[in-house]
Amino acid sequence: MARLIDSYQRRFRYLRLSITDSCNFRCSYCLPNGSCIDPEAERPLNLDEIIHLTTAFAGLGVEKVRITGGEPTLRRDVIEIMEAIHQVDGIEHLAISTNGYRLSQLASRLVASGCTAANISLDSLNPAHFAKVTGQTSNKAVIGGIDASLESGMKVKINAVLMKGVNDIELPNFLDYVRDKPVAVRFIELMRTGDNKAFFDKHHIRAEVLADRLVESGWSPLARSALGGPATEYAHPDFAGRLGFITPYAKNFCDQCNRLRISCRGELKLCLFGDGQESIRHLLKAASQKEELQETILQRLTHKKASHALHDDDFGTTRQLASIGG
Ligand code: GTP
Ligand code: 5AD
Ligand code: SF4
Repeated sequence: MARLIDSYQRRFRYLRLSITDSCNFRCSYCLPNGSCIDPEAERPLNLDEIIHLTTAFAGLGVEKVRITGGEPTLRRDVIEIMEAIHQVDGIEHLAISTNGYRLSQLASRLVASGCTAANISLDSLNPAHFAKVTGQTSNKAVIGGIDASLESGMKVKINAVLMKGVNDIELPNFLDYVRDKPVAVRFIELMRTGDNKAFFDKHHIRAEVLADRLVESGWSPLARSALGGPATEYAHPDFAGRLGFITPYAKNFCDQCNRLRISCRGELKLCLFGDGQESIRHLLKAASQKEELQETILQRLTHKKASHALHDDDFGTTRQLASIGG
C-alpha cells in the first residue's frame, strides 16, 4: 500500500484537520480583532467530506487525527465529527486542539466520542494577563475546562505562547501548576505570520533561556515519540506534570516533521508556513473518488520542502494560525 513519505524520507502518519476558522477569542498574536465572517466564503467541510478525507488519509497510513480550528468546539457537530473519524479504519488516535472555553461542558462527550487527548491554550495563569492577551474576562473557564478534561480521562497538554513583557516571567507559576497536575505545559515561541508583524517585533523571545533554567534545576529532557509533536519536553521526579518548549526558530526544527494539514475548506497545506495550499475539496464528494484523492495527495507531497523559511522572515501565505489551526 502507498505510504506518505516525502523527498526527505519523512513519513506522515498524522493529519491536522481544521474544522472551522472562526474563533471566539481575540488573541493578540492571532486574531486581535476577532474572527471576521466573510459572507462570500465557502462553508467548512461537512461530515461526509470529512469522512471521505480521513478514510483516504487512513488508507495512506495516517494513524492520528487532530481536530483544530479556529476554535473547533464552535462547530455544533463537533461530537458527530469526532465519532465519525473514530469509526474510520486505521485511525488509532484522535485528539483536539482548543482554547478550552467549552471544555467544561464538552469533555465527557468528547471522550465518549473517541477523543483521548486535548491540547489547550493557556497563555497565562494570571487572570488579568490572560484577559489582556485573549480578550476574555478571565481564565476561569479555561482552567475549569482543563480540570474537566483531566477528570474525563483525557491526556492534556497546555500551550502557552511565550511573549516578552507578557508572560516571560511566569515560569515559576507554571512550575507550581505542574507540581501536582499531570499535564504537559509547553511554551511556544511566538511565530511571525502575515498579520502579526508589530506584535511579533515587540514580543518575540527565544525559549532557550527558560530551557537552560529547567536543566539547571534538575529537569531532564524526554525522548520524542513517532507520533509526537515538535515539543521538547522535560520531566522532574518531584513534579506530576511536564514542561516543554516548541522552538520553530531552532536549527533542524523541521527535520522530524510528521504532519500534514487540511484547512476547514479542504485545502491541503504541506507546511504551516508554506506558499501553496491546493484545494482537494472537489475530490471529497463521494467515496468512489478515494483513489484519485489518494493519488493527488501523494503527488502533492512530492512538493513538500525541507523546512519553513521563518528565519528569512518568510511565513508563506499564513496570515494567522487560526486559518489552519497551528
Ligand atoms: P501533538 O504532538 O499532537 O500534541 O501536537 P502539537 O503539540 O504540535 O499540537 P498543538 O495543536 O498543541 O500545537 C502546538 C503548537 O505547535 C502550535 O503553536 C503549533 O502552531 C505549533 N506547531 C505544531 N506543529 C508545527 C509545525 O509543524 N511547525 C511549526 N512551525 N509549528 C508547529
Ligand atoms: N505563534 C505561536 N503560537 C501560536 N498560536 C497561534 N498563533 C501563534 C503564533 N503566531 C498557538 C495558539 C494555540 C496553538 C494551536 O497555536 O495559542 O495554542
Ligand atoms: Fe514541517 Fe512546515 Fe512544520 Fe516545518 S513548519 S515542521 S516543514 S510543517
